[in-house]
Amino acid sequence: MVIFGAGGDLTKRLLVPALYNLAHTGLLPEKFELIGVDLADLDADKWRESLHQMMESFIGKAAGESRIDKIEDDVWRHLTGRLSYIKGDFGDDGLYQKLKQHLEQKSDTGGNCLFYLAVADRFFEPVITHIGKVGLFEEHWDRDGKRPEYWRRVVVEKPFGHDEASAKDLNAAILRCAQEHQIYRIDHFLGKETVQNIMALRFANGMFEPLWNRDRIDHVQITVAETVGVETRGRFYEKTGALRDMVPNHVFQLLAMVAMEPPAGFEARAVRSRKTDVFTAMHTVEPEDAVRGQYGPGPDGVIGYRQEKDVDPASLTETYVAMKLGIDNWRWAGVPFYLRTGKHMPRRVTEIAIRFKSAPSAPFEDTNVATLPPNWLLLQIQPEEGIALQFEVKRPGPVVDLAAVRMAFNYADWFPKEPNIGYETLIYDVMTGDQTLFNRADMVEETWRVVGKVLETWSTEKPVGFPNYASGGDGPADADALLMRDGRAWRPLLDER
Ligand code: BG6
Repeated sequence: MVIFGAGGDLTKRLLVPALYNLAHTGLLPEKFELIGVDLADLDADKWRESLHQMMESFIGKAAGESRIDKIEDDVWRHLTGRLSYIKGDFGDDGLYQKLKQHLEQKSDTGGNCLFYLAVADRFFEPVITHIGKVGLFEEHWDRDGKRPEYWRRVVVEKPFGHDEASAKDLNAAILRCAQEHQIYRIDHFLGKETVQNIMALRFANGMFEPLWNRDRIDHVQITVAETVGVETRGRFYEKTGALRDMVPNHVFQLLAMVAMEPPAGFEARAVRSRKTDVFTAMHTVEPEDAVRGQYGPGPDGVIGYRQEKDVDPASLTETYVAMKLGIDNWRWAGVPFYLRTGKHMPRRVTEIAIRFKSAPSAPFEDTNVATLPPNWLLLQIQPEEGIALQFEVKRPGPVVDLAAVRMAFNYADWFPKEPNIGYETLIYDVMTGDQTLFNRADMVEETWRVVGKVLETWSTEKPVGFPNYASGGDGPADADALLMRDGRAWRPLLDER
């Protein structure tokens, strides 16, 4: 595995801990070898040492996804025993010649090679073009052409383009050097167990699918609320904003899991085609159906976005987005999907809430059907991981009265919690050649199309009244108005849950 951006945060915080967990569970090949490539002035020993230090900082951490119990020597040796480091500039031809020679000396790895682009997006195209130019994407196939004798694959991180046109250009550039079956466009949300579980919930059970349509569902709310701000990523975030950072990728992946038709099988082609159908059927969002926000200072001296490091003090970048979306197909016509995501919200929660239509009548004494709380099915992605169903029961006692209760499944009650970063499944899938959880070229292009009109309008029309929500607040008032005009309301971020 060759990691471009070996000295970066992604490598240290997520990729290497995930590889460690894979080695720990016996899922790394016996002759696994890690090669780091970066501009940083490191060598193999220094790089190994810096990775070890980062791993040590995860030992026994109370919370957080990178927690490990201890670093086991034999596992660490398996992972880093044969590690090497190549220093160089990603734009320099000489670097790739060096890499090629280095790889040619490693005949005992069988020639399989996974290139991981843990680099800023401006390097995606040059790095891939260079890898192609020195012939490192060439695979060797067996005589009937069914199986590569050795494979070459590349993982491309997000952001994959910054709009539809740039995503198309990037796809075209990559596809000049590598073939679609070699390209793994990653979205780390798909590595989350609870996201993958949505397919199991829907398609491994007989009781949900009959309700899973416009006849029974009133609307769907998808929330990705974060308590963190932009931390050290001000420079990146300034030109990205919440919409590009979260919506056409992570949030739409959640939406596709909920909205897709059952695939004919669980192989990559079938699943990705059904997801593409969802993206293709999604309306291009109209600017009046989208709301943007930016957090200002909060209580207890919490600073606002404009005071963050590397952020323009008059910044117009959004840190919050809400939108209403429609899907034009038989299953979902007329069912709104409301999405919201933001930084510095009051609580960290990623959740898909499916609201069912109300009972048609309420034959209970003094009960008006309009006042009955609705039924909700809650798919809790993080930090709570589980599924909950909210419905009405009769409150005990002689008076007929109703109360909303919850039936809840929590992952933690049923399965032991293993250390899991979320990248394990995805890296393992790349090594085994399974593209199911990765984006195909047409998928990313469609998702950018859906948000294209909003992006364009927002780039020319200045937002009014920024900052428009306090750090730690629920988001801007306009986001509430977006649902209120349809006679609906967001689920409170801070309720009894
Ligand atoms: C990243 C975004 O892709 O996802 C970040 O760039 C965001 O801004 C992060 O915080 C959220 O991922 P997770 O796994 O922490 O929910």
